[in-house]
Amino acid sequence: MTSSSRTQVGIVGAGPAGLLLSHLLALRGIDSVVVENRSRAYCEARQRAGLLEAGTVELLRAVGLGDRMDAEGLEHGGIYLQFAGERHHLNFRDLTGGRWVTIYAQTEIVKDLIQARLAAGARLEFEVSGTEVIELDSDRPVLRFTDAAGTRHEITCDAIAGCDGFHGICRESMPPGLVRVAERGYPYSWLGILATVPPSTDELIYSRHEDGFALHTMRTLQVSRLYLQVPTDEDLTLWSDDRIWGELRHRLGVPGWELKDGPITEKAISPMRSFVASPMRYRRLFLAGDAAHIVPPTGAKGLNLAIADVTALAAALTSLLTQADPGPAVAYSDTCLGRVWRATHFSWWMTSMLHVDPHQDLFGAELQLSQLRYVVGSRAAATTLAENYTGYFPLRW
Ligand code: FAD
Ligand code: PHB
Repeated sequence: MTSSSRTQVGIVGAGPAGLLLSHLLALRGIDSVVVENRSRAYCEARQRAGLLEAGTVELLRAVGLGDRMDAEGLEHGGIYLQFAGERHHLNFRDLTGGRWVTIYAQTEIVKDLIQARLAAGARLEFEVSGTEVIELDSDRPVLRFTDAAGTRHEITCDAIAGCDGFHGICRESMPPGLVRVAERGYPYSWLGILATVPPSTDELIYSRHEDGFALHTMRTLQVSRLYLQVPTDEDLTLWSDDRIWGELRHRLGVPGWELKDGPITEKAISPMRSFVASPMRYRRLFLAGDAAHIVPPTGAKGLNLAIADVTALAAALTSLLTQADPGPAVAYSDTCLGRVWRATHFSWWMTSMLHVDPHQDLFGAELQLSQLRYVVGSRAAATTLAENYTGYFPLRW
């Protein structure tokens, strides 16, 4: 038996994009249902991003999601760039007229959002299966799924938001031939660890080393997060804890500085990819976040872009559904893609400047070093990095 119901916006995916969209719509009096194929515990524990642009922080505060972030997040006014055995500091506040970034893990944002949505009585369906989006040629698209107890549901919507990540079903549900994809693969991956040890640095260290890139970031003042460039399709079992700490020391080391180690609680390898699908809308089906675009993590943009997309989408859906004004919904894809392509270029640039391409020759290596010397030597070049890293486009809510 199928249960039929109605909502204004059907949202596929309870990642940061889907959950925040549901929250923003509720603030505008718009009803939504979120369906998610994983469990709540899985969504809350999935280790991913950790760095928020200033605009993202200001948005989360403005919509009532700032309390725990303000209490537990760590504000950073810059980063370290390391190459040729030397560590240099970039001061973002000075370069950008006061902008900063905040360390607050995606896991915590997702926990805050789920709690806020459930407290507001929202309908969040975890552990669904068989999600489908149909009737996309009409003004009443339909969201279908089977809930955790096995009941099939059919929800008639005014609009559907595909916030279902890179491997979701919404992008593929758009009409054949509509979506153009621009993409780039990279010949390396990241091995990421989470370790119970206080960070050995006050701000993030991005290190270009001839044996591969390394990054020292953090989650809290007690938990460190570190990454190593490894070959694509690397076998994780080749990396014992001792080997990981040894390689991190080797690639991050500078005279007079010590990397503290501790128990590793998570270890995973992620591929690197740039991917942009456009347009991000077909009639009343809208894509947001990783469902539409992926960036390599070197620029720390993935989560920030997902949040920016749904901020634009919530405004567009408010105009469409409460003021019968389709203008912002029609413009949604173009509105987002300006920011997406800026972040795509920045992430590609940071990635290419800091990683060792296995096919790289001396010419390539010297270009990277010249670029890095320029970034730390020229205020104009440093400002370019700083304004992109802290968030170039303002977020409007
Ligand atoms: P997601 O977080 O992917 O959420 C999509 C949700 O949709 C998921 O919960 C998924 O289970 C659900 N879903 C999928 N299909 C269906 C379906 N058919 N029905 C119902 N639900 C469905 N960014 C950074 O800035 N820094 C990082 O260090 C970083 N590390 C990352 C590591 C990994 C392994 C990955 C995959 C991404 C990483 N990112 C990082 C990117 C960042 O985490 C993402 O950009 C961000 O999660 C995007 O949020 P989203 O809500 O668009 O998508
Ligand atoms: C993280 O904290 O996980 C992180 C920070 C900055 C990046 C990538 C990942 O560029």
